[in-house]
Amino acid sequence: MSTSGARQRGRIELPTAAAITEAAALLRAGELVGMPTETVYGLAADALDPDAVKKIFAAKGRPADHPLIVHLPSAEHLPQWAAAIPREVIALANAFWPGPLTLILKRSLEVPDEVTGGQDTVGVRVPSHPVALALLRAFDGGLAAPSANRFGRISPTTAAHVQEELGERVALILDGGACEVGIESTILDFSRDVPEILRPGAIGPEDIARVIGRRPRVRGEPDAQATAPGPARDTAQPAPRVSGALAAHYAPRTPLRLVDPARLADEAAALAGEGRRVAVLAHSTPDPHDVRLRWRGLPAEPAAYAQGLYAGLRALDGVGADLILIEALPGGPGWRAVADRLGRAAVGSGGAKA
Ligand code: TXA
Ligand code: MG
Repeated sequence: MSTSGARQRGRIELPTAAAITEAAALLRAGELVGMPTETVYGLAADALDPDAVKKIFAAKGRPADHPLIVHLPSAEHLPQWAAAIPREVIALANAFWPGPLTLILKRSLEVPDEVTGGQDTVGVRVPSHPVALALLRAFDGGLAAPSANRFGRISPTTAAHVQEELGERVALILDGGACEVGIESTILDFSRDVPEILRPGAIGPEDIARVIGRRPRVRGEPDAQATAPGPARDTAQPAPRVSGALAAHYAPRTPLRLVDPARLADEAAALAGEGRRVAVLAHSTPDPHDVRLRWRGLPAEPAAYAQGLYAGLRALDGVGADLILIEALPGGPGWRAVADRLGRAAVGSGGAKA
């Protein structure tokens, strides 16, 4: 549809062959496109076009030195983006791509500074969502795509969320339905001596260890600290910048508090009794049917909980509550990634600064 350039910006389109062709043409023309992925929706631009990439930062209100992930149609595109591709990286790509794993590698000279934030590394992944893959194949190149939310806000997991966040700042949004994973990809830094998970996600350190035969560090976890002073530690290089690593991130506007499951119903009722408008996100405590409360339940299983988390937070953020109570999560490695997101959401909520 070559006449579509004049059509309304920010509109949502079903991913027909014509819409994919149009989206690829818009990307080639330097425009931004809302792209569904299996993790969250991305705000895509031609990764080799610095002006297009700059539009991403403007649309998100994101600081320009935060690097972006480059999405590729397949691992065969890696040599264009990465200067070195260790054997373990090929094994990881074979095992997890297409899928929710981002690899940080030494960049090739071709990658614009706008994408890497001026660092000597680049983040790459091959997403598994069929619409993302169709778009990447039609575009036949790398697409820089952060989550399609305004900076510091909750990542979008539906096309409607993207429209709500970015409106006419994006040329077109492809509707790929609700994201299956629901939280952002695992980021594995493979650019230094010891692999390190910078952002936990659906693919955990145990999954990675099964493929490469060694367990990556996990940033912020005690075992990482324990090995930190060892000789393998690469102290000469500064830690890479990861905006998802800022304490205040993924945050609703409504203040948010984590509450022990045993105290959740009572605390919610007590606050409501004081006249506070309370919303609750629970996973094991059943809805007490207190009409003063806005109660939303998520499944008590980590993958299903992750899938519904951002939509749940976004919905509760919109009900005009004074406070959102979140039932604290069980411990355990399966909950690592959602615990990470909830912790950050709690710090950043209500406009609080970390
Ligand atoms: O699941 C995802 O990864 C989604 C979908 C759209 O693919 N994307 C996403 O992008 O979450 P974004 O920009 O919201 O988060 C990407 C994170 C940022 O925190 C960024 O700092 C980090 O990846 N990152 C990107 N390139 C990096 C690099 N070269 N070194 C260190 N961190 C990097
Ligand atoms: Mg993001």
